[in-house]
Amino acid sequence: MAKKLDLERILHKQGFGSRKLCRIMIINEEITVNGVLCDDPDMEFSLENLSYTIKGEPWEYREKSYLMMHKPGNYECSHKTQHHPTIYSLLPFPLVERGVQCIGRLDEDTTGLILISDDGQFIHRMSSPKHKVPKVYEVTCKHPVSDAQIAHILNGVQLVDEDAPIAALACDRISEHIIHMTLAEGKYHQVKRMVAAISNRVDGLKRIRIGRLSLPDDLKLGEWRWLSDEDIANLSAS
Ligand code: URA
Repeated sequence: MAKKLDLERILHKQGFGSRKLCRIMIINEEITVNGVLCDDPDMEFSLENLSYTIKGEPWEYREKSYLMMHKPGNYECSHKTQHHPTIYSLLPFPLVERGVQCIGRLDEDTTGLILISDDGQFIHRMSSPKHKVPKVYEVTCKHPVSDAQIAHILNGVQLVDEDAPIAALACDRISEHIIHMTLAEGKYHQVKRMVAAISNRVDGLKRIRIGRLSLPDDLKLGEWRWLSDEDIANLSAS
């Protein structure tokens, strides 16, 4: 039988504040469930396909949250930021309240695709070095990129503090200054360090793909959206 829960607990689990606060919102007639006003905090609902509104804003019940964001520059991927606002300030507060975390960090000046979730197992699986999901970066270099530099990146560059040289899985020149670099690892400042190791410099960095999931063209800087089942399937390694 489908799991049922009372409305007060449902809203609390979904990140809308303390049980007491959720109870008050319900009694104040601020909630509709599946299209019908509900002012009884103890009324139980099946969690399957449950939709509700809070002060007119529509939501769907989600056991876990899986999102993608187009990270803007000058935002930090941390809950405790040092110099810039946090990317979590771009999300609705109930998601932050649910404890969502980004999966791997992008530097504050890097833009592009970042995944965010509150599913610990998913975060662990996606960030595990064993998982090796390829990530594609669009790199704008300060100096024109030569064939020799591309060959060097593909053959492997030696980074300080690494035992062995690290090679990109792919490196394609898009224009004189722009390359698409595919990496299997997510080491600290990896793209910037690899580009520095070939005597060039990163002037702009954007992550455009994770696995087979591309940053959607219509997801603007600073916007986020829920991952579909298809998006999640596209996050496998190949
Ligand atoms: N590599 C970097 O150098 N910076 C990032 O933000 C991501 C990958």
